[in-house]
Amino acid sequence: MKSIINYAHRGASGYCPENTMAAFEKSWKLGATGIETDVQMTKDGQLVLIHDESLKRTTGYEGQIKDLTYDEIKTLDAGSWYSEEFANEHVPLLSELLSWIASTEMMLNIEIKNNIEPYIGIEEKLVRMIQEYNLTDRVIISSFNHYTLQTCHQLAPEIQTGILYMENLVHPWDYVKTFGASALHAHYSAVTSDGVAQAEQAGVIYNVWTINDPIVMRELIDMQVGGIITDYPDILAELLKEKIM
Ligand code: G3P
Ligand code: MG
Repeated sequence: MKSIINYAHRGASGYCPENTMAAFEKSWKLGATGIETDVQMTKDGQLVLIHDESLKRTTGYEGQIKDLTYDEIKTLDAGSWYSEEFANEHVPLLSELLSWIASTEMMLNIEIKNNIEPYIGIEEKLVRMIQEYNLTDRVIISSFNHYTLQTCHQLAPEIQTGILYMENLVHPWDYVKTFGASALHAHYSAVTSDGVAQAEQAGVIYNVWTINDPIVMRELIDMQVGGIITDYPDILAELLKEKIM
């Protein structure tokens, strides 16, 4: 049985505030072999890890990331909304995560969130940073914006890219190849065992999101997808262990 990457969604977000260093570090301790995170860009062009375009939900601040500098954002509390115990957490820079992940053996899925805000130039900044940290062979970039993935591939063909989608696409394993992507990042409802087998034949990986139900995890393990993205990497780690034994 091939090894399936256990990606912690926004870090171990079932146990910690999403997209914080606490959530990333916890996921490694819980047995995740990869991390999924979301990247956006500040007013002064810094790449930060946060899911929403607005700071409101996870820091309480009424404002958009694009309108603040990182010096302003870094003072915000990104943990208390989840629990007081995490009051010292901040919105991390991508460089903080890259620097820490280099000390682990984890894989990293970086999702570019530029469907709502265009974040001009985000692709170039991202691929240059991945190259600078020598992580090109451990990172896969994904996005719902497939033009962005095409740009990343043109800038750095050595970095893998995966198309995010929710709907049932016709032969997505052929579509990805038209602009050099190598993986399908599908919502689990759009995944079938026949599709996984056809993708494998075409040399395309299936990474599937976001699965917290052990029954669905088991089905995807049996289908032999390439990676499973979950808020609970410990549950998935146990199921993967059972399959190996
Ligand atoms: O990358 C998989 C998943 O994270 C996509 O949706 O909204 O959780 O970023 P979202
Ligand atoms: Mg995401």
